[in-house]
Amino acid sequence: MNFVTASPDADFRTVLENGGILFFPPGEFSVPASVLDVLTGATQDARSIHKNIAYKTNADNVSGLAGGDSADRVREAMREYSKLALSFMARILPDYARGWKVDYSSFRSIEERGRALPLNKRNDLLHLDAFPTRPVFGDLILRCFTNVNPEQAREWLTSDPFAQFAGREAHHAGLEDYVRLARSPFHSLARGVKRAFRSAGLPVVDRSPYDAFMLHLHAWMKANGTYQENCPKYRFDLPPGSTWLVFTDVVPHAVLGGRLALEQTVIVSRSSLADPGRAPASILEKMTGADLTN
Ligand SMILES: [Fe+2]
Repeated sequence: MNFVTASPDADFRTVLENGGILFFPPGEFSVPASVLDVLTGATQDARSIHKNIAYKTNADNVSGLAGGDSADRVREAMREYSKLALSFMARILPDYARGWKVDYSSFRSIEERGRALPLNKRNDLLHLDAFPTRPVFGDLILRCFTNVNPEQAREWLTSDPFAQFAGREAHHAGLEDYVRLARSPFHSLARGVKRAFRSAGLPVVDRSPYDAFMLHLHAWMKANGTYQENCPKYRFDLPPGSTWLVFTDVVPHAVLGGRLALEQTVIVSRSSLADPGRAPASILEKMTGADLTN
């Protein structure tokens, strides 16, 4: 597994697309104390359906707070963090930034070790990310994390990236069902109906066979004890103040411990990769010969 400390001569896109973690030591990206003061004073609602305090950048809206907090101050702090993270990411990855879609950012305030969550929401099991309500149609999920805990490292576990993973596991995970879906005449019909519902304002998710497979894979990986037990594992302690970027739909990952991290997500267009053939969707399409992203 590739863990690459960023240096000016490194090709950041290639590191990320090959399933590496692009690591920036403390001080390379900093979150202002004024932002941290507000966020560390905010209480996340542990009973809420939300796993984190999330900031929807485009809607300028915060979810996951316990009642009684000053939502306006938290929203302002998250807005400030999101602006700084996006400009840092755009500076180091200008080729992605030209076509990316800004997604949510989050503040992870709860200790991950021993956290009681339902199986499919557990962070301590290796998984690839897929968003139930925000299909990507073959584009990629890029996340920038900063450990803002002044004392405690954030403990990550990863496994072999998508290209190796898919070769070993995609068929076991039922990829053929999604190839059949992609080839079914009913699929394009169903998508047309969903699009019509969506434009009428109904909360229907219109996703491609690729999105459906990745969503299924997320749950399949977490529920698969054999995979969790036997897959190759790489362990990283991300120190206080450090920042790291990773395609979380390319690199299986789990968080074993740590609290207080900030995270910004962008959806990177497959066509802006240095090599679009390295996208998970391209790998699956090459394996199957099916068009999975329509
Ligand atoms: Fe994840």
